[in-house]
Amino acid sequence: MRFFLDTAHVEDIRKANDLGVICGVTTNPSLIAKEGLDFNEVIKEITSIVDGPISGEVKPTTLDFEGMMKEAREIAAIHPNMVVKIPMTEEGLKACHQCAKEGIKTNVTLIFSANQALLAARAGATYVSPFIGRLDDISEDGLDLIRTISEMFAINDIKAQIICASVRNPIHVMQCALAGADIATVPYSVIQTMIKHPLTDQGIAKFQADYKKVFG
Ligand code: E4P
Repeated sequence: MRFFLDTAHVEDIRKANDLGVICGVTTNPSLIAKEGLDFNEVIKEITSIVDGPISGEVKPTTLDFEGMMKEAREIAAIHPNMVVKIPMTEEGLKACHQCAKEGIKTNVTLIFSANQALLAARAGATYVSPFIGRLDDISEDGLDLIRTISEMFAINDIKAQIICASVRNPIHVMQCALAGADIATVPYSVIQTMIKHPLTDQGIAKFQADYKKVFG
């Protein structure tokens, strides 16, 4: 399983990229709005930092086929690494299919069932994004969905890649990897939590104390 960073916060993207652990970025309208910056400017900056797939989502105010296609073409033209994020709707599937015909990569987002993932893949999605945290929030098992999609794609030899989205903690990450996800897209805070272990900190403190006792 590989990692994407799920943010539009450029400094976090720089930090995660410097660690060498991420190979792509996903954004969404909420994340872009949180930064309060111009979509094109932020996306351009992200493409200059990370050399991998960068998902930029069509505006939530443009959800008809024609509108999404206009935006998809504009987003794809920003940089060869751009992936157009399209919501899982009828119009979205149609746009995803048209994008595939035009050679535009897509990430079908807001997936909450295995059948939605199957349809998105059949429409030509490059990536499908099941949201596990939001399912957990309503007492449904998000990880179970990843297992099902993963098995379904393997049995049917489907090439669309599974991006575990709405990842909230390190346990989610580990379980996504075991469930067969291709990618987990995570906030920088999750990476920071994954790095830390109290025994690592204690070990460093002990090495320092022991070393100083003898060598000053
Ligand atoms: C995925 O691409 C989304 O941007 C994201 O993972 C949503 O996560 P949230 O449910 O924490 O908002």
